[in-house]
Order: sequence, then C-alpha cells, then structure tokens
Amino acid sequence: MTERATDRGTIPPSLRSAISAFVAMDFMRDANARQAAGEDTVHMEVGQPGTPAPRLVREAAMKAIAGAPLGYTDALGHPGLRERIAGHYRDTYGLEIAPSRIVVTTGSSAGFILAFLALLDPGQGIALPAPGYPCYRQIARVLGLRPVHLPARAESRFLPRAEDARLVLDSGEASAVLLASPANPTGTMFRPAELENLVKAARETRSWFISDEIYHGLTYSGPAATALSYWDDAVVINSFSKYYSMTGWRVGWMVVPERLTRVFERLAQNLYIAPPTVSQLGAIAAFDATEELEAYKAAYARNREMLLNELPETGFGSLAPADGAFYLYANVAHLTDGSEGFVRRMLSETGVAATPGIDFDEAEGRHFVRFSYAGTFENMREAARRLKAWTRTA
Ligand SMILES: Cc1ncc(COP(=O)(O)O)c(C=O)c1O
Repeated sequence: MTERATDRGTIPPSLRSAISAFVAMDFMRDANARQAAGEDTVHMEVGQPGTPAPRLVREAAMKAIAGAPLGYTDALGHPGLRERIAGHYRDTYGLEIAPSRIVVTTGSSAGFILAFLALLDPGQGIALPAPGYPCYRQIARVLGLRPVHLPARAESRFLPRAEDARLVLDSGEASAVLLASPANPTGTMFRPAELENLVKAARETRSWFISDEIYHGLTYSGPAATALSYWDDAVVINSFSKYYSMTGWRVGWMVVPERLTRVFERLAQNLYIAPPTVSQLGAIAAFDATEELEAYKAAYARNREMLLNELPETGFGSLAPADGAFYLYANVAHLTDGSEGFVRRMLSETGVAATPGIDFDEAEGRHFVRFSYAGTFENMREAARRLKAWTRTA
C-alpha cells in the first residue's frame, strides 16, 4: 500500500518532495542546538567560512541600505555587478565574456535550479560525481531528472574519469554532466588536460557541460581551470559564498551561452524576480577586496597544513588529495561501517561536528567522513586534539 493510501484523513505532500535531507545542514542544526544549550562545540560540518564578508563589501551594503530605495534589480542582475563579474573573467582567466552572458543568482543553489530547468526536461539523465555535492542529485530528483552517478573513487584521485562520462553521454543515459573542481567533499581538482577531456566528451556527444566553479580561488597548488577555456557553450556556476566569504548574502552567478540568456531571464523573472539587491550592491565591492580575501585563504592553508600533519595520528589519516576548497574527506572504513551513527557519536562524545559521507555518496559514503577546515586555527587545533584522544579510546 502506498503512503498516500495509508494516510487517510490527512492531505499528503507531493510525492516529488520526498527527497533526502541535506545531511550537512541537519548536522549544523544539531551542532548549533548543542552550542545554544551551552555545550562546547567545534564546527567542522558545514562548508562555510567563519569570517565575515570583506570590509569593503559590508561598507558598500551599509551605504546601499542608508541611501538607495533598494527595489528589484533586473532579473539577470544589477548591470554594475554583471560588468564586474565579466571583468573577473578577463583578469583571472584571460577570457572576454560579454556582461550580457552573466546571470546573477540567489547563491549558486539557484543557479542549479535555473540551469536544470533551462537545459533539461523531466526524465532526462544528468551525470553527477559520486561522491559529490548532495544537492545536485536532490535538485535533479525534485525536478524530475534522473541522476546518473559517475564514480570518483580513490583509484582516480577521487575525480570522475572522462571515459566514464563519455560512455553515459554517448549512450544517451545522460544528456548533461555536472562537475566541480575543486570538488566538494574531497577538495580534489582536475588538471587542465583532465578538465579539457571531460568538456570534450560533452561537446562531442552534444551534451551540456555544467561546471560548478564555486571553489575557484581556494586552491593550494596553482589555480583552477575554467571550463569556459575549452568550450564557449559550457554553463558555469559560481558564487560569492566561499572564496568571498559571503554565504549568508545569498548571491552567486552563472555564465551562459548568449543564445540562452533570454531563457534564463524568463525563468529568473518568474521564479524569484531578482536576486537580493543589497547583496548584489555589496558583491560589486568584493572584487576590490583581494588583500583581505587572500588573508582568509592563507588562514585556510594554515589549517589545512596543520590538519594534514595531525589527522594521521587521530585515525583519520586516509584522505583524498586536498588540492583546494576547505575540506578533508577521510576514509573511516577501519573505524565504522556506518558514517552517520559514527559522526553522531563523535559529536556527542567530543563536541566535534563533521558530516557523514552518506550525504555525498549513497553507495560508498558509509565509509567516509568530511571535515570542513574553514574555522579558526585555534578551533581546528582543538578539534585535532580531541579527535586524537577520542580515537585512542573509541
Ligand atoms: C560544490 C558546491 N556547490 C554549490 C554550493 C551552494 O552554495 P551557495 O548556494 O551558497 O552558492 C555548495 C555549498 O556548500 C557547494 O559545496
């Protein structure tokens, strides 16, 4: 009997809304509740900087609040911000991108919704990395798409392989591929030739290539390549949340092919009218805040270095190559067969919050835990100290 039939008397929610939770957010809620109850908690569960938005961004936003009427902007974003984002492609990657191709979004999260709606129809497949950012598959499911998993296992440096992507695209099993580099949860990054091969697989099979470049800027051994260098038709999704330290401002962007800008405009107009105006006016200043942002990045690099030294002594030493972002993805198969219960116990016994691998990988995630090292050095060092003591006794 279906859930609907057994639930007589109450009106059930839609069947398509029955997607999994974003487990990292569930753990953040629990860690916050623990902290609010006065218990000592170290946050390593959610991927967000502990630092504020850069000073120039905050000043620009305050000025906007004090002065302007703050009405809606154009659905595709404030023209000044679209201009600055286009300039960022010239300065960072040496690419000329017309401002008309920039779509400002309510965080990159809205970018996925717009991209999936603009590019794909219900029933079509979308190839997604496993492990990968959990919301890709949940957004795909809620919109009636079929997630097709591309393995990103230890054997291939935790990165999906071009030959696997080509296979699912060529067979028609998937009509698009979405990849992130540096990736969440692993932090691993494609070498330029690897990314080029993946883009080529999409281009040659007439499939969409969606590139989540949200962790660009946060790399520790050379810059990340953009998919736009290999194909002008690649759809790029990015955000002010990570490198720019602006998670709560809810502002991101996309670069889309010129011929699709009207499609994105119609969707954005109808779905949310426009991204938040005050956040956009602040974000314009983010491109002038490089000094402050590089200092944030140097702090992540220091955390990373310390944890790469300390974690092997804690039992969390088997890690994916931590090329970028601010994550360490640890194999804990020798400690547990169920990462969710394990992480829950770790939180209650040590106060260190992390995210179980099942959030990122439905098949293998029970053997993995993700740590975010975007917090303060003191907190990260304290977490390492507690985990060392805990794994000795656990
Ligand atoms: C890989 C990846 N993409 C997208 C997002 C969504 O970020 P936002 O909506 O804040 O831009 C996240 C957040 O953690 C992420 O890790």
